[in-house]
Amino acid sequence: MKILVLNGPNLNMLGIRERAIYGAGTYTDLVDFIKTKADALGIDVEIKQSNHEGVLVDWVQEARGVYDAIVINAAAYTHTSLAILDALKAVSLPVAEVHLSEPKAREEFRHFSYISLVAEKVFSGEGFKSYEKAIEYFALAPRLS
Ligand code: DQA
Repeated sequence: MKILVLNGPNLNMLGIRERAIYGAGTYTDLVDFIKTKADALGIDVEIKQSNHEGVLVDWVQEARGVYDAIVINAAAYTHTSLAILDALKAVSLPVAEVHLSEPKAREEFRHFSYISLVAEKVFSGEGFKSYEKAIEYFALAPRLS
């Protein structure tokens, strides 16, 4: 099984940005963490990050026929991007939404998620572990194995 993990804007700043919310781990730490967990589950993962909405849309489109599922932390685009939602709908791949923090426990403008309109599952509020749970969700899903 091949899973594409997409990360949106400012996640490359992990370890520097708002550490009280996102923790001290860097983006490199996150990538290493995801790869280790995916390896243990026998899952092939590709992990990408962009600060640009259109780039994320391109990567979603290119995932069609290549990956079995998408795990996405669209970061701030979660709350604004109809374009990423449409791309996810267009490719018809199973989607899991992840967040390091718990957006619903934060400012009201973070409560709505376009990604949730297409995601099968949301894993949030558990730091790096949110990603592990999303990968596990697909790895252990009988319909995909
Ligand atoms: C985030 C939550 C978003 O509201 C925020 O804009 C982010 C990160 C998270 O992982 O907790 O950049 O997606």
